Amino acid sequence: MYNGEKLNAKAFVAEQVAAIKEQVGSDVVILGLSGGVDSTVTAMLINKAIGSKLQCIFVDHGLLRKNEYEDVLEHYKVLGLNVKGVRAADRFFAACKGITDPELKRKAIGKTFIDVFNEEAHKVSDAKWLAQGTIWPDIAESKSDKGTIKSHHNVGGLPEEMHLGLVEPLKYLYKFEVREVGFELGLDASFVNRHPFPGPGLGVRCLGELTPEKIAILQEADAIWINTLRETGWYDKIWQAAAIFVPVKTTGVSDGCRTYDNVIALRAVNSVDAVTASVVQVPWDILDKVQHDIIANVKGVNRVVFDISSKPQATIEWE
Ligand code: XMP
Repeated sequence: MYNGEKLNAKAFVAEQVAAIKEQVGSDVVILGLSGGVDSTVTAMLINKAIGSKLQCIFVDHGLLRKNEYEDVLEHYKVLGLNVKGVRAADRFFAACKGITDPELKRKAIGKTFIDVFNEEAHKVSDAKWLAQGTIWPDIAESKSDKGTIKSHHNVGGLPEEMHLGLVEPLKYLYKFEVREVGFELGLDASFVNRHPFPGPGLGVRCLGELTPEKIAILQEADAIWINTLRETGWYDKIWQAAAIFVPVKTTGVSDGCRTYDNVIALRAVNSVDAVTASVVQVPWDILDKVQHDIIANVKGVNRVVFDISSKPQATIEWE
């Protein structure tokens, strides 16, 4: 962590708490929580500086992991954050209806997020600042001089008409540094070591048009994959794992009868900063158990594949 000189996490927290106090004074700050490490660490840092003057908003876009909304909202409350949960899945599915292009889908999700967030933000009287959990790789990837690779909706998403100043205390940190700060702020290892999860959520892991039915299938398959990695001790050896809904129907057989169902792809990569990534060689017996459990328990899936592509030239997310 640098600010002219190298700082450890403790010094970084002290410095940022003072800087946030100086920047926002007694103003109200609003922050969109995503359930991920970056926005949570941002919230904890600002909460330490200004307490309940920080109003957090946690939007359920319907593209979170299975049970994620309820679990994470509860966790935020335990952490003492001033947070309002907003259920808005229907609006996101409506906005994405008929869209199959990944970039248009990201834009539709991003725009809906801003609309929902904006409406909530306007209900917070006296808000003067918008805090964001932007970290350095988000900025670096969005500024690629070879054109946009993917539009990350947590960069540059501030609507002008909100007239809010920006608070981005983590913007020069890499992910591992954000985690160090998370530990320093007292977050549990099980939370701090969560894998990164994209802002558009399962929306970029469900290829083609988004529907509640496809997302429900993906949530079930993803839960089996992630829980198995946790149970076998592999979760913490992996930087990011994902299940992807591939809407390609293939022929299968179940109880002697033909099936014609979708494909789930499993992904597990190691990385330092998400700019490059290599595939984790998850043991075969774990992959075998996961494929069996998914096909036996998730209706609508009859084939599971493992993605062996590194970044470059694939990206981590499929869309
Ligand atoms: P890619 O797919 O570009 O992903 O290799 C690199 C890292 O960024 C995450 N990601 C996102 N994070 N909003 C985010 O907050 C986004 O739109 C987004 N797209 C990708 C991805 O999960 C990986 O960690």
